Amino acid sequence: MKINEIKQQFLSQLSITYPKQEIENFFYLLSQKYLGLKRIDVALNPDFKINSKTDQEFNSALAKLKQEIPIQYIIGETEFYGLPFYVDKNVLIPRPETEELVEWIVQEVKSKKLKVKSAKSLTILDIGTGSGCIAVALAKNIPFAKVWALDVSEKALKIAKKNAILNGVDLQFLNEDILALKKLHLQFDIIVSNPPYVRELEKSKMHKNVLSNEPHLALFVKNNNPLLFYNKIADLAKENLNLNGELYFEINQAFAKETKTLLKEKGFQNIESKKDIFGNDRMVKADLFQI
Ligand SMILES: C[S@@+](CC[C@H](N)C(=O)[O-])C[C@H]1O[C@@H](n2cnc3c(N)ncnc32)[C@H](O)[C@@H]1O
Repeated sequence: MKINEIKQQFLSQLSITYPKQEIENFFYLLSQKYLGLKRIDVALNPDFKINSKTDQEFNSALAKLKQEIPIQYIIGETEFYGLPFYVDKNVLIPRPETEELVEWIVQEVKSKKLKVKSAKSLTILDIGTGSGCIAVALAKNIPFAKVWALDVSEKALKIAKKNAILNGVDLQFLNEDILALKKLHLQFDIIVSNPPYVRELEKSKMHKNVLSNEPHLALFVKNNNPLLFYNKIADLAKENLNLNGELYFEINQAFAKETKTLLKEKGFQNIESKKDIFGNDRMVKADLFQI
């Protein structure tokens, strides 16, 4: 079969489910993955012959796209903060909003770099690391930091370890249930978390491809306790943050005010929230000053 014929199959068979541009993007990602061909190569060689093994790979991807399986899971990789990441169904696909949280931390650290660097190397803990996207991106961009990545899911930690190797960073891993943990036996300068924060009742507003494919362990909390993780992580942070340590959260946009109030009541200071590129309240930062 010729490559252009496969492209036409994708366009005709997926048009009920996706817009044309998105189908083309899928097709070019797959051409790059299976054949090492860039978009321009495909355009210049429409008659390029595909062998039967690759033909089967395209067909299998086409069938999965019809079932609305995310392209990132089909090709097994994605990009986050300009870095490559392996992903599979055991980890959440990293979101652009989370890149903004990483950017906030990187910029804050850069602005205080000299102070931190002269004191010691910076220690960071990422709670609910999933693919390891936050931990790896921070370790890569703050080279003097020592970064720990924690998750309750062993399968997620396996992917996070692969991603640390892929990106050439050295992370420390902790397999813990943060909700059951009494105390961490380590102190950190920064604790960051993008914990599960979608209420079960919000399921009806979510796209089918997220609901059917991404791990529910990574996404959902009970309707009656939306701040469960924030409450527990803030308590741990009070014990395990160093003097002048900082806590960063990605948050549910519906609970920015409540999350800030919770942090204030626990004694955190300089509590700030930030909107994401879509204009939603998406991140919170708080400092812990100890006497
Ligand atoms: C929203 S995902 C975030 C993943 C990744 N940090 C990111 O930003 O894409 C939440 C993560 O928390 C983990 N998690 C869920 N419950 C947990 C628990 N009780 N203790 C530790 N981690 C938990 C999930 O396995 C998942 O990887």
